[in-house]
Amino acid sequence: MDLFRKKDIGALRSMAQKSGLTRNLSAFDLVFLGIGSVIGTGIFVLTGIGAALYAGPGISLSFVLASIACAFAGLAYAEYASMVPVAGSAYAYTYASLGEFLAFIVGWNLILEYTVTCSTVAAGWSGNVPAIVITMFLCILLVRGTKETVMVNRILVFVKLAVIALFFILAVPNVDPMNWEPFLPYGAQGISAGAAIVFFAYIGFDAVATSAEEAKNPDRDLPIGILGSLGVCAVLYFFVALVLTGIVPYSDLNTPEPVAYALRVIGYPIGSAIVAVGAICGITTVLLVLLYGQARIFFALSRDGMIPAGICKIHKLYRTPYLVTIGGCILVSIIAGFAPIHLIAEMANIGTLSAFFIAGFGVLYL
Ligand code: ALA
Repeated sequence: MDLFRKKDIGALRSMAQKSGLTRNLSAFDLVFLGIGSVIGTGIFVLTGIGAALYAGPGISLSFVLASIACAFAGLAYAEYASMVPVAGSAYAYTYASLGEFLAFIVGWNLILEYTVTCSTVAAGWSGNVPAIVITMFLCILLVRGTKETVMVNRILVFVKLAVIALFFILAVPNVDPMNWEPFLPYGAQGISAGAAIVFFAYIGFDAVATSAEEAKNPDRDLPIGILGSLGVCAVLYFFVALVLTGIVPYSDLNTPEPVAYALRVIGYPIGSAIVAVGAICGITTVLLVLLYGQARIFFALSRDGMIPAGICKIHKLYRTPYLVTIGGCILVSIIAGFAPIHLIAEMANIGTLSAFFIAGFGVLYL
């Protein structure tokens, strides 16, 4: 029965207060962390495949459907995060609700989710060798400090949002409503098939919860960060998908770079360059925030003795869990550098869905 022993919420909270991490993240920082980890390459790549092969112009509704599924998970995380604001996110929540054994599984599941999502994003866009270089560069930044990490994230998120704004400015005047006919060429079923594909574009918002011990006011700000970033991304994704399928026939979008392609077709040859800037910022922020989250989960696991305690040492000068950060980055580099991309992409979705499932179940139980 020991396998199912639970951790007291009060004990978890007081442990978090003594963690040694510095509390300097505001609600605004948390929303930006969320947007940083969500908008990566998914929106620039999957929208095209989803529209051409699964949902037609109805891919915009697929984004809505996937966002509703994520919103339920987001609500569960928000509820937990204000009740148990500790770094372990769903791992700690499960420890408090369903016991040690399931918590151990969820903890490793989250590490799987963050590791393979990082590896997919890095390898998918930049090719295998640059993926290793980017990851190691971000590793140095993460060890250097959370404040520095958040500042770089903030700048890159601004650029990323500016790229999306530019897309709207160039594309909206070129929308031809005829391209939306038929809106659902694959029927209503296509919407859910498309949602399964574009789900990847939403992965990451839960990483906000791992910053609980570095947030100034976690009880209030974590729910704002999780649901706020999810809301912003859902609205942007819906309109990007709607406009993209409005400027070119959906059947032409089955290319590895649909947004750049569509911009070229409507007469903006700089389209690829614009998208490349957005995607590079996207890759960097997704990696940054997920690697950050991954280190915090490792940190929580080792604090509970699930992995050797020495691993969660905090750097004396920078106040970051540097050993787990470096270890996680090496792991991501190896996978991004050598594993086949379709395999790691599937694992990212599976890891995320199972963490969401158990978190949702745990909230009901609690
Ligand atoms: N949601 C992230 C992306 O779309 C993983 O790249």
